Amino acid sequence: MSNFIVTNKIEKELATVIKSLAADRVFVLVDENTAEHCLPIVMPELQDAIIIKIKAGDETKSIDTAVDIWEILVDKGATRSSLLINLGGGVVTDLGGFVAATFKRGMHFVNIPTTLLGVVDAATGGKTGVNFKGLKNEIGAFATAEKVLIDTRFFKTLDFKNRLSGYAEMVKHALIADSILLEQTLNYDLDSFDMTRLATLLKQNLQIKENIVEVDLHESGLRKALNFGHTVGHAFESLSYEMGNPMLHGFAVMWGIIAELYLSLIKLKFDKKIVSQILAFTKEYYGAFPYTCKQYDRLYELMLHDKKNSNGQINFTLLASVGDVRINQKVTKEEVFEALDYLREN
Ligand SMILES: NC(=O)c1ccc[n+]([C@@H]2O[C@H](COP(=O)([O-])OP(=O)(O)OC[C@H]3O[C@@H](n4cnc5c(N)ncnc54)[C@H](O)[C@@H]3O)[C@@H](O)[C@H]2O)c1
Ligand SMILES: [Zn+2]
Repeated sequence: MSNFIVTNKIEKELATVIKSLAADRVFVLVDENTAEHCLPIVMPELQDAIIIKIKAGDETKSIDTAVDIWEILVDKGATRSSLLINLGGGVVTDLGGFVAATFKRGMHFVNIPTTLLGVVDAATGGKTGVNFKGLKNEIGAFATAEKVLIDTRFFKTLDFKNRLSGYAEMVKHALIADSILLEQTLNYDLDSFDMTRLATLLKQNLQIKENIVEVDLHESGLRKALNFGHTVGHAFESLSYEMGNPMLHGFAVMWGIIAELYLSLIKLKFDKKIVSQILAFTKEYYGAFPYTCKQYDRLYELMLHDKKNSNGQINFTLLASVGDVRINQKVTKEEVFEALDYLREN
């Protein structure tokens, strides 16, 4: 049975999940924004729950905040049979999942992602963790939520940039799996953001991810398909943090997708027309590529340090065609620079 439910009656689904888990106590983790915009939607089902509110923002995804939450759980008598509901974006679900996975070696947790990125990326797939010593997601654990409950109503209060950030991951899922879904995804009207249509696309997206994660939770093989766009994308994201001007994850991934499509084109003869089509889509919505050739060396260094590499080699996931994923591809430094040139010059 699927681990996720896409619904427009989240209150009802939540009540069913809480009942089925027979939790002795229910805790809800929110940040300032989800406390204001999202909690009221589910509050009728959570009258007896203990609400834990943290500050919004990636700096909060730290071991210090995890300690604060563990303290509250201990003080309020949480047990292994208690339930933690993570109601928020990737910060809340990564942090809350990590806290739950480690509390008494694991208490129940349910994710209710409230950002599009959370739905398609952070809240599904079992990766949890916190940032440490300036490094993203340096401490963490694989732990799967009992359920992931998804309701597109939450996106009504999400700003356009955060919608776009999640949408990049939807383009990625379509690219690694299904050319019809890719066409539908590129043709969806992001400006009007029709929620019913979005829910249909999301169901297909999540199924793609779930099928992959089910076979390879710990990323030894097949799961590397989900890294498409991320080897270069993470370098953009890290550089933006270093420069004090953080880029949203999905923006970095969208540019990473273009770079890795270009590498797929020169190494595996990926269809040039599709590369141009996705480049045009990216320019229309995500703006101009923000880096210059002065930053190439640093970007390359960051790619070398990605925690998914082994033996000092960068492991790329590339595509021979839509849905035909090739993992562990080796690419030269010159080819990486050529891909970055492609982003700058087109
Ligand atoms: N575990 C994974 O596999 C995985 C994958 C990708 C990203 N991540 C992590 O996820 C985090 C990024 O996630 P994110 O983009 O959701 O960030 P986020 O949780 O910081 O949310 C973005 C902003 O939107 C606000 N917000 C959330 N829901 C809202 C709503 N419905 N209406 C209005 N505002 C709302 C938040 O308070 C925050 O200010 C990063 O820490 C990243 O490392 C994890
Ligand atoms: Zn991602």
